[in-house]
Amino acid sequence: MKFVTTSPQETVRLGEALGAKLKGGDMVAYEGGLGAGKTTFTGGVAKGFGVKDQVSSPTYTLVNEYTGTGKRICHFDMYRINGEEELETTGFYDYLDDQTVMVIEWSENIASALPENTVRVKFTILDEQTREIEITGDDRFEDTGDRNFLKDGFGGCG
Ligand SMILES: Nc1ncnc2c1ncn2[C@@H]1O[C@H](COP(=O)(O)OP(=O)(O)OP(=O)(O)O)[C@@H](O)[C@H]1O
Ligand SMILES: [Mg+2]
Repeated sequence: MKFVTTSPQETVRLGEALGAKLKGGDMVAYEGGLGAGKTTFTGGVAKGFGVKDQVSSPTYTLVNEYTGTGKRICHFDMYRINGEEELETTGFYDYLDDQTVMVIEWSENIASALPENTVRVKFTILDEQTREIEITGDDRFEDTGDRNFLKDGFGGCG
């Protein structure tokens, strides 16, 4: 599914639509360059999954954790990670469990460590305010934020 958003708020709402469909154990891998909207989108994912709506960039910490009742999002930034050995030092493998959604910025850098059933989200900058966001995953995501997601109100930003 491909979407085009024309503001950060729209990107948050699309993230929310995805977050509402996630369950513990899911891996969500982002691709797309600097400033493409990955952290912005994650704010919506957390809200939709029901853990927290204040998300900040894990640029310096490598991973931020957001928890709710019986569930957790671990939000990684792999920008500076290269290779399997460095990945292990981030604790990546220790965070995996069936209550946790893993959200990975710069997943390009850990491509070989991603499971087959990874949900992929690809961000492309079209212009200053416009992003193309492509979500690829299993059947659950087929109607993610159907074309009316901006009007029909995920989270009441309407
Ligand atoms: N349609 C849009 N969707 C998302 N962000 C947008 C959009 N239009 C403009 N922006 C701006 O683009 C920037 C996106 O920043 P964000 O931190 O989310 O990107 P990122 O992909 O996480 O970058 P990095 O790789 O540096 O971590 C923000 O400043 C946001 O306001
Ligand atoms: Mg970011």
